[in-house]
Amino acid sequence: MCRHLTLARSPLNLLRIALPVPPYETGNLRMIPACPIAALPRGEALRIETDPPIAVFHTEDGELYAVDDTCTHQDASLADGWLEGCEVECPLHASRFDLRTGRVDAPPAKLPVRTHQVVVQDETVYVVPSDLPPNLPPGVRTGSA
Ligand code: FES
Repeated sequence: MCRHLTLARSPLNLLRIALPVPPYETGNLRMIPACPIAALPRGEALRIETDPPIAVFHTEDGELYAVDDTCTHQDASLADGWLEGCEVECPLHASRFDLRTGRVDAPPAKLPVRTHQVVVQDETVYVVPSDLPPNLPPGVRTGSA
């Protein structure tokens, strides 16, 4: 369960990690390896260079969340933003997104950010990408769009 803590705000220590192995299918799940769990300390985030990129957050409470790494307002990396409790604040114009649902908690963004499932298996963090379309900002497209 994630609680909102009153923490001193600090910028995320962003990790950019190349995918160690390609995504693989297990049952009906497509799992994208993000990193070893030990490589993503609490309070930090990493960006996975998928299309579109995905940000994985490890909260101070030890929860893991994944969302698209592009703010829905303009082209900014949420992994470069500020993590507080279960929210991330965009570094560009300070929109806030609830990492559990993707909901916008503070404007100017209006659309929620797409969320993805996170799985930890054998000490490795995996992302199970959503089947829903992303809410990318104007002018940002995926390679397949
Ligand atoms: S780019 Fe994120 S709030 Fe404007």
